[in-house]
Amino acid sequence: MAKYSTLLFIFLLLNSLLNFHASPEYSRPRPRPNIFTGLTRSKSEPEQVHISLLGKDHMRVTYITSHKHTKSIVEYGTSPGNYDKSSVTGERTSYRYFFYKSSEIHHVTIGPLGPNTTYYYKCGGSGPEFSFKTPPSTFPIEFAVVGDLGQTEWTTSTLAHVGAKDYDVLLLPGDLSYADTQQPLWDSFGRLVEPYASKRPWMVTNGNHEIEIFPIIHRFGFKAYNARWLMPYQQSGSTSNLYYSFDVAGCHIVMLGSYADFDVQSDQYAWLQADLAKVDRAVTPWIFALIHAPWYNSNLAHKGEGENMRKSMEELLYKARVDVVFAGHVHAYERFTRIYDNKVDPCGPIYVTIGDGGNREGLAMIFENPSPSISTFREASFGHGRLKVYNETYAHWSWHRNNETNTAMADELWIQSFASSKSCLPETTNFQEMKTHQKDEL
Ligand SMILES: *[C@@H]1O[C@H](CO)[C@@H](O)[C@H](O)[C@H]1NC(C)=O
Ligand SMILES: *[C@@H]1O[C@H](CO)[C@@H](O)[C@H](O)[C@H]1NC(C)=O
Ligand SMILES: *[C@@H]1O[C@H](CO)[C@@H](O)[C@H](O)[C@H]1NC(C)=O
Ligand SMILES: [Fe+2]
Repeated sequence: MAKYSTLLFIFLLLNSLLNFHASPEYSRPRPRPNIFTGLTRSKSEPEQVHISLLGKDHMRVTYITSHKHTKSIVEYGTSPGNYDKSSVTGERTSYRYFFYKSSEIHHVTIGPLGPNTTYYYKCGGSGPEFSFKTPPSTFPIEFAVVGDLGQTEWTTSTLAHVGAKDYDVLLLPGDLSYADTQQPLWDSFGRLVEPYASKRPWMVTNGNHEIEIFPIIHRFGFKAYNARWLMPYQQSGSTSNLYYSFDVAGCHIVMLGSYADFDVQSDQYAWLQADLAKVDRAVTPWIFALIHAPWYNSNLAHKGEGENMRKSMEELLYKARVDVVFAGHVHAYERFTRIYDNKVDPCGPIYVTIGDGGNREGLAMIFENPSPSISTFREASFGHGRLKVYNETYAHWSWHRNNETNTAMADELWIQSFASSKSCLPETTNFQEMKTHQKDEL
C-alpha cells in the first residue's frame, strides 16, 4: 500500500507538470478551477442520474447509491407519481481506483417506450421523481452538441444555455469530467449534469481525459468512464464501450474512440467498416460521426493529434458519405467545408470542432495565420452547437456562444444530406469490394 501511494504521488506530480507544460506556445485567458458539486440528497437516495438510448425503444437509466442494498430497479409511467411500469433488467457495478472505492453504479433498462413521450420515474425505490422525454421516431429531431465539458463556472454557463432551449438528444464528443484520476470529481460531475442528463439522453464518446491509465495497476484505462458512462455498444455489434453506433429518428450516429486502436487491423476499424456497410439510407438518410481529437484543425492546440486516425479511417467515412464529423479536444469552435484528404471535396463530410464546453484548462486562443481555405469559421469562445434535422434532405447547424441567447447564433449553416444528393450518392457497394481487396493484399 505504501508503494502504491508513492507511485500515485509521483504520477500526480508528473501529471500536473505535464499539464502545466502542455502548451507553452499559446496563452489562454485565465481558466476557472473545477467547482465541486457535493451531495445534497440524503445518503440513502439515488444520485447522479443519467439516461442513454438503448436500441429502438428502450432507455438505460444509470444512477448511483451508497447503500449496498438499494435495488437496481426503475419504476415509471406517463403521469407524475403514477408508476404503472417497472424496469425489465437491472445490473450494478462498482470499481476501485487506488484508495477510492466507488458507490454502487446501477444500470437499468426500461421499455418499450413510446416516441416523443414524457415519462416520470423513480430510481431504486426511493428519492425524488425524475422525468425525461423520449426522442421522436421521425423527423424533425434536434441534437445539442457539446464537447470538453468539464465542471467549472464556464461549464455551468454552457449547460444553462443547453437547457434553455429544448432538444431531443445530447451528443458529447469526449472529455467529460476532467477528473484526471481524482475519482471524487467523477461523482461531482455526475451531480452537476444530473438536471440535464436525467431529462434527455446523453450519448457520449471518450476523450483523453477519460483515459486515466496508470502503469501496471490500471493499464487499460477508462475504468471510471466505462463503469459510469456505459453506452449501447453491444447493441451495435461493438466489443468495446469506447466505440459504438446508434440510430435515432432517421439518423445513424457513429461514436468513435480516438484512444482505442484504429489502424486497419484493429477491432475498431473492422467494426466501423461493418457498421457503415449495414446503414440503409432509406431508413437513416443521415450519418453523423463523433471523434475526440479532430482530423482537421487550424488551431495551434493539439495540431496533428488526430492525423494517424484520419489516415486510417477517413476513407471509410468518405465512401459511406458521412454527412458531418464532430470533434472535441481543441477548446474552441471551428467549422470546415466539405473535405476529403485535405482537399475541398463536395462528397466529403463537413468537419466541426466543438470542444468549447467550458473545462478548467480554458480556451485555445491561437489559430494558424492565415486561415487555411478549408476552414470557414473559427472562434475561441465557450458555447455549444445545435443540429436540427428537419427531414431527409435538410438539417440546420448552429453554434451558440455562451454570452448570447439561444436565438442568437454566432455561426449557422444549412446542410443538405448526401442521401438526397444526385452527385454524391452513398457508395455502399464499395464496402464489399474493399473487403475483398484487403483480403487479397494479406
Ligand atoms: C412531439 O410532441 C410535440 C408535443 O407533444 C409535438 O408538438 C411535436 O410535433 C412532436 N414531434 C414529433 C416529431 O412527432
Ligand atoms: C425539409 O425541411 C426544409 C426546412 O424546413 C424545407 O425547406 C423543405 O421543404 C423540406 N423538404 C421536404 C422534402 O420536406
Ligand atoms: C458575445 O461575445 C462576442 C465575442 O467576444 C461579441 O462579439 C458579442 O458582441 C457578444 N454578444 C453579446 C450579446 O454580448
Ligand atoms: Fe481532449
